[in-house]
Amino acid sequence: MSMIKGFHHLTAGVRHAQEDVDFYVKLLGQSLVKKTVLLDGEDPIYHLYYGNANGDPGTLVTSFPFRQKGVTARPGSGQVRVINYSVPTGSLDFWRARFDAMGIAYDNAITARFDERRQRFHHPCGIEFDLVETDLDKRPACVASDIPEAFAIRGVHSITLSLREVAESIRFMSEAIGFRQVGQSGPYYRFETHTGGPGMVVEFLHEPDRHQGSSVYGEGTIHHVAFAVDTMDQQMALKEKFMALGYIDTSESVNRNYFRSMYFKMPGGVMFEAATTDIGFAIDEEPGHFGEEFQLPPWLADRKDELLGRLEPISV
Ligand SMILES: [Fe+2]
Repeated sequence: MSMIKGFHHLTAGVRHAQEDVDFYVKLLGQSLVKKTVLLDGEDPIYHLYYGNANGDPGTLVTSFPFRQKGVTARPGSGQVRVINYSVPTGSLDFWRARFDAMGIAYDNAITARFDERRQRFHHPCGIEFDLVETDLDKRPACVASDIPEAFAIRGVHSITLSLREVAESIRFMSEAIGFRQVGQSGPYYRFETHTGGPGMVVEFLHEPDRHQGSSVYGEGTIHHVAFAVDTMDQQMALKEKFMALGYIDTSESVNRNYFRSMYFKMPGGVMFEAATTDIGFAIDEEPGHFGEEFQLPPWLADRKDELLGRLEPISV
């Protein structure tokens, strides 16, 4: 069985911090799970984590609001193109009315594939999202005072990758990371890991003519997807396996304070990560209080006031 049981997190470059908080928290009912910083050089930018109230792996999407630095990224192939959230069957009308009320762009047509209805909508920075109707997702609902449980998001259902070529990537999914191909519908290929179902689904969208997207962190693209593994030992076992199969574009295990990360590029050019579940968000805030205070990793803790002073204030 695969060491990969599902998603850990997705990470995107967005525009303004407050606009991003409003999108995930006010609009989608996600919890701000952690408010910390990316320090790459001297200028801090926020690193904002959203997910369900427990901060469970597989519900997490994280943002770098890059407008502050003026860095934009080019959407294209070789990227995660769409983040798909699962919602209960029959909830798309609720969400369309909500998008109207809150000024969020969404596509006119409700579409379907693999027997699931879906609604495309857009983050203010342009990143594409789908809501996918399913009754198979038993994770806790992300409810809010104005989002009833019957319509609430349960977590990341799947991701859709844009790929110019798919043959080698299809092989990679099964041989390298243990996913099985479970369907094809036109240009869409669907893969599942572990028990399958919401949170364990990766789709390819074969787009042979789409230009190459950038792989830098910047506003307007999803930079990478992280899959959950238990420990660093599993990360290193995966890394060895990739090398043995000839996929040598892998990183060392990096300490990200709340988990450890090992990055690897899949053949179609999309940045993947294996993130460990053995640390978690409770190392600096009690469960029930995640995201309340600005947090810094130990190696930056003594610069808290200075770094916060250089970030625009946000309110949740
Ligand atoms: Fe990551």
